[in-house]
Amino acid sequence: MSKASPTFTCTACGAVHRKWAGRCDACGAWNTIIEEAPLSSGPKSLGAKGRAVALTDLATEEAPPPRAAFGIAELDRVLGGGLVPASAVLVGGDPGIGKSTLLLQAAASIARQGLKCLYLSGEEASAQVRMRAQRLGLTDAPVALGAETNLRDILTTLDAERPALAIIDSIQTMWLDTVESAPGSVSQVRAAAHELVSFAKKRGVAVILVGHVTKDGQIAGPRVVEHMVDTVLYFEGERGHQFRILRAVKNRFGPADEIGVFEMTGGGLSEVSNPSALFLSDRGQAVPGSAVFAGVEGTRPVLTEIQALVAPSTLGTPRRTVVGLDSGRLSTILAVLEARCGIPFAGLDVFLNVAGGMKISEPAADLAVAGALLSAREDVAIPPDMVLFGEISLSGALRPVGQTENRLKEASKLGFSQATLPARSKIGTAEGMRVHQIPDLTAFVGDIFGAG
Ligand code: TYD
Ligand code: MG
Repeated sequence: MSKASPTFTCTACGAVHRKWAGRCDACGAWNTIIEEAPLSSGPKSLGAKGRAVALTDLATEEAPPPRAAFGIAELDRVLGGGLVPASAVLVGGDPGIGKSTLLLQAAASIARQGLKCLYLSGEEASAQVRMRAQRLGLTDAPVALGAETNLRDILTTLDAERPALAIIDSIQTMWLDTVESAPGSVSQVRAAAHELVSFAKKRGVAVILVGHVTKDGQIAGPRVVEHMVDTVLYFEGERGHQFRILRAVKNRFGPADEIGVFEMTGGGLSEVSNPSALFLSDRGQAVPGSAVFAGVEGTRPVLTEIQALVAPSTLGTPRRTVVGLDSGRLSTILAVLEARCGIPFAGLDVFLNVAGGMKISEPAADLAVAGALLSAREDVAIPPDMVLFGEISLSGALRPVGQTENRLKEASKLGFSQATLPARSKIGTAEGMRVHQIPDLTAFVGDIFGAG
């Protein structure tokens, strides 16, 4: 067998390359590729006889195991109705966003229900975690706390204790003495996650792994373990905003795309059960450049304000600045407005912002984005009691989107009385809303801005 040669692994996405490069072809990140020591050579061939795998059929007699609800509604919904026993969950997010705070609160509510919960911190000393617990008013909760980074010791502890839930904060600090590279390297993080996930399955212990999203290439990010776990949640938010959004990007036991909304307060994270009211709360009177988008996140409708500012540019290439939306989508909408409606944005700086630190990925936001852009450019306000939604196609036609009724219902509940949406949308009951059904972008410009 040829001698194993070193491999080069991207610490951001885990892609393996044959040689070093400044930029990872797979994810496009710069300076994230590091050399990994070759794995010790395994058995020469698989010719040896293995053990026959026990096979079963698909029909199962066992009832699905009951989920353990945290009693934190925003977290339970994102998980698909609570924690599934023996499952592995990854909670990723930027450092300082509030992962440890959220999980300590979650641990406390599980422990208060009489279920055994271990919180193992590799980042903070027990005293620090206790101080946080004090600040959060959780000192009475019977959470078993440990500070350790050696995975062999952690697994031994878990095997002896057999808790319902073990929280590992964070996976990047854990190390296995059987793997040679440094803690935080791709091989350590992968091996540690693999051990913990297989332990979870074998021994019936649910594990939650915390993973920091890393910017520099020396430490592996949470993406390298995404494929191993059952559920991947990301905790996101803008710095300077107190809102935090917990988003399910993968869930073997429930819907993905579900979000939970929290607010970071002096006493920890508090749930926001009506996010629309919160994202719209600082909305003033009708101002040009503002449009309210009736969106849907997972199973829940969420109204957000989209703000645009359009100003003459002094630059050769005008600025396009976007917060909370995909910048490629903005370019497409600008191009469609120019090509199909004859409204140019050349020579104009465009700033687009989703209020409240929310991130929107739904194509249904197109119409609200176009509305905000046109409103800012023409200096005409959109009626403040109007919501907009609909996808814009490259031809300038408006395409209906799903859950129209759900969106209208939420808008009506929050005091909006008219909606602009694509023609041919399945409306059902319009919830007392005045509905403008628009076939294409040109008609939209005429309808709202009185021009053609
Ligand atoms: P933390 O949970 O330590 O973040 P992570 O584990 O994701 O790195 O949260 C750190 C931030 O949260 C810190 O900037 C302080 C703030 N915070 C509050 O605002 N209120 C609180 O009650 C707590 C515990 C933290
Ligand atoms: Mg932390």
